[in-house]
Amino acid sequence: MVRSTLPRATRATRALRAGFAGGALALAALAVTLPAAPAARAADPDVNVYSTRQAFLIQPLFDAFTEETGIGVNVVFAKEGLAERLRAEGDNSPADLVFTADIGHLNDLVELDVVQPVDNATLESAIPAQYRHPDGKWFGLTLRGRVIYAAKERVPEGAVETYADLTDPRWEGRVCTRKGDHPYQVALLAALIAEKGEDAARAWLAGLKDNLARRPQGNDRAQVKAIMEGQCDLAIGNTYYMGKMLDDPEQRAWAEAAYIVFPNQDGSGTHMNLSGVAMTKAAPNRDNAVALMEFLVSDRAQEMYAQLNHEYPVKPDVAWSDLLRSWGDFKMDPLSLSEVAKYRGRALMMVNSVGYNS
Ligand SMILES: [Fe+2]
Repeated sequence: MVRSTLPRATRATRALRAGFAGGALALAALAVTLPAAPAARAADPDVNVYSTRQAFLIQPLFDAFTEETGIGVNVVFAKEGLAERLRAEGDNSPADLVFTADIGHLNDLVELDVVQPVDNATLESAIPAQYRHPDGKWFGLTLRGRVIYAAKERVPEGAVETYADLTDPRWEGRVCTRKGDHPYQVALLAALIAEKGEDAARAWLAGLKDNLARRPQGNDRAQVKAIMEGQCDLAIGNTYYMGKMLDDPEQRAWAEAAYIVFPNQDGSGTHMNLSGVAMTKAAPNRDNAVALMEFLVSDRAQEMYAQLNHEYPVKPDVAWSDLLRSWGDFKMDPLSLSEVAKYRGRALMMVNSVGYNS
């Protein structure tokens, strides 16, 4: 379901632009039709955002941005379908920016040709190259590791150290994962294809399937719940879910039954994924949109955005939350996410060819 706050603001923005084009008379008419619009806005149109990220994650940032710059932010939240919506709206789209999570969704925006490159020194110096599109068609803003959740009571520390360890016959019938075609799993497999080749990746996936305790099902948190219930000893999940489970009185026990293993510390490092932002092709308020993007890589916004969802800031040297620091420092896989994106198609085919979900 789409909770839209945009249409009225969009009409206002369009009317404002028409007002500038039409001169004083149009502006006078605007003042009559939009009595509630603050005077400051008339000289400074808003920025319009489409977001698959939930309101509680981004609204505090937008409020801080408005407070600092006077530029309002109008947001349309939707769980899915925003890329298709942008495609349908084309040049008439009121949206300036899209906020979404996972390299798969960011890459969809590029493949559907609904975003434009942004060439900006502030963004390029703040965001490491592996976490932004080479031509500036998307920029990472927060990071999450795809880690192993291990049963505190049944998996001794050090017994599992790599993604490959999950395929060890020692863990036969003791591993739980969500479905293999979910974007989080696809990106992990795509990274493996990029680094080790298709044969090694297929062998890993088949080995993982052989060790599954049950048919892949549920979300990342459901796997940790299954650890608590004794159905499995090991699972794969994103780092921030540990924080989210600890925050939730009903799920706290799930989190407390497991500990995080950051895989591949002596090798390639832990697979990372991201949430990010992209500028739409239409972007009627381009300057304001760039101002918001730049704000989001300021130290203050980076710290705030990462903390809201227990994620890692994309900008190096920005402080981590106490909780993330308690999990420890770790080596992140430096593989570029746009490189990961190239192998998503092959990864998805591989999931089907080994029958991972069946
Ligand atoms: Fe998630």
